[in-house]
Amino acid sequence: MNKEQIIRVDNHEFELLINHAQLMNRIRELADQISEDYHSKVPIFVGVLNGAFIFMSDLIRELSIECEVDFIKISSYADKRVSSGQITMIKDFSADLYNRDVIVVEDIVDSGRSVQYLQKRIESMKPASVKFVSLLVKKECAVVPLKIDYIGFEIPNKFIIGYGLDIAQKKRNLNVIYQIKGKEIS
Ligand code: IMP
Ligand code: MG
Repeated sequence: MNKEQIIRVDNHEFELLINHAQLMNRIRELADQISEDYHSKVPIFVGVLNGAFIFMSDLIRELSIECEVDFIKISSYADKRVSSGQITMIKDFSADLYNRDVIVVEDIVDSGRSVQYLQKRIESMKPASVKFVSLLVKKECAVVPLKIDYIGFEIPNKFIIGYGLDIAQKKRNLNVIYQIKGKEIS
């Protein structure tokens, strides 16, 4: 499934960027590192909906430690392909993060505004520790200074879809990642 090198979506051409085996291998490495770093702890993984749901489900199944999960939903994009810079909380935390080891799970860090917003919010809940894991980071794009503790892949500043990431809410169910061909779109 999803072995095509090029696909067409909404009149744009997308080319294969990361295949399924590459995703799984890297996720196993991240899970091993996290299991080692949190040895004898029980961290709580907070997935940022919608994009992180597939990555998070694969990541936690590769862990060798106990963990708990929670989800939040924020919106910075609406259905546009360029961040508005405005973050809206759509679904807040359910768990009490006080004195917990929190690991926030993101699909992608682009401008970094979502991570910055979440960091402030989580720190106000007085956790024991907070770390961030993101499957993807668009390195050239970050407009705010931030530290991502675990990074799957650094990728070019191009619009991507698949493996949780959407174009107007579609294509999250691709099991590989495609990037738009040619220039960025906005
Ligand atoms: P940031 O706040 O600008 O870092 O935006 C992060 C969020 O924007 C991610 O969690 C994604 O949901 C979304 N996003 C950023 N880049 C892309 C992309 O290339 N494709 C699809 N969604 C993206
Ligand atoms: Mg999105």
